[in-house]
Amino acid sequence: MQIVLFGPPGAGKGTQAKFLSEEYNIPHISTGDILRENVKNGTELGKKAKTYMDKGELVPDKLLIDLIKERLERPDTRKGFLLDGFPRTIPQAKALDVILDEINKKLDAVINIDVGTNELVRRLSGRRICKKCGASYHLMFNPSKTKDLCDLCGGELYQRDDDKEAAIKNRLEVYKNQTEPVLDYYKGQDLLIDVDGEKEIEDVTSEIRAALVKFQ
Ligand code: AP5
Ligand code: ZN
Repeated sequence: MQIVLFGPPGAGKGTQAKFLSEEYNIPHISTGDILRENVKNGTELGKKAKTYMDKGELVPDKLLIDLIKERLERPDTRKGFLLDGFPRTIPQAKALDVILDEINKKLDAVINIDVGTNELVRRLSGRRICKKCGASYHLMFNPSKTKDLCDLCGGELYQRDDDKEAAIKNRLEVYKNQTEPVLDYYKGQDLLIDVDGEKEIEDVTSEIRAALVKFQ
């Protein structure tokens, strides 16, 4: 099953991908996570990406397309994959079509997780991430039971630099101008499935699961 999880910053792509990737036993490929890992390890890619990411700007297409091509060519995508955070521009969507063609695969669906702006701001500003395992929490909606530590691994929780107020505002603008047009691209290919992302986490998962039944 080849799926794109689409939606604005804070829609819940990462949260949902975690459950779905376990359930379907296919890798969760988050370009945001891969970039943050590169920043943490001080790689060339990480150095180039950091300034864009901290401001909430998109990292240049060429870097992302090279990254995703290398990732999709690995053997663990044989049974499928869940893409989270890619594609985010029309050139990225077109490049993905070319890459998939080369590896003889095609997308089954693009799940658009729909959430309004006020709710996105609430989610992003309250989000906390585990330093060790990357698990995502929310101060109000999805709190850690062990307070400032991760329930899964005991790691310390922190706030992403791009979850500060100014960067959140910019990310939402960038989404509107550069990423939203990708929805029409996939509508044109008859791949788009809209899901109400404002419901409880488990209810959103159920809605996505129901939409994906026919591809299993
Ligand atoms: P990336 O990491 O992809 O960030 P994003 O798209 O802004 O998405 P988020 O991770 O912020 O949100 P999410 O939808 O995963 O929400 P989550 O599940 O965490 O990208 C970061 C940066 O990297 C970009 O700005 C860019 O610079 C660069 N980049 C990445 N990909 C790129 C690309 N393709 N091209 C160019 N640049 C790229 O949920 C959010 C919060 O809400 C959490 O606290 C969660 O607990 C809570 N929550 C989730 N669901 C619910 C619910 N149903 N109810 C209540 N709370 C909920
Ligand atoms: Zn953890």
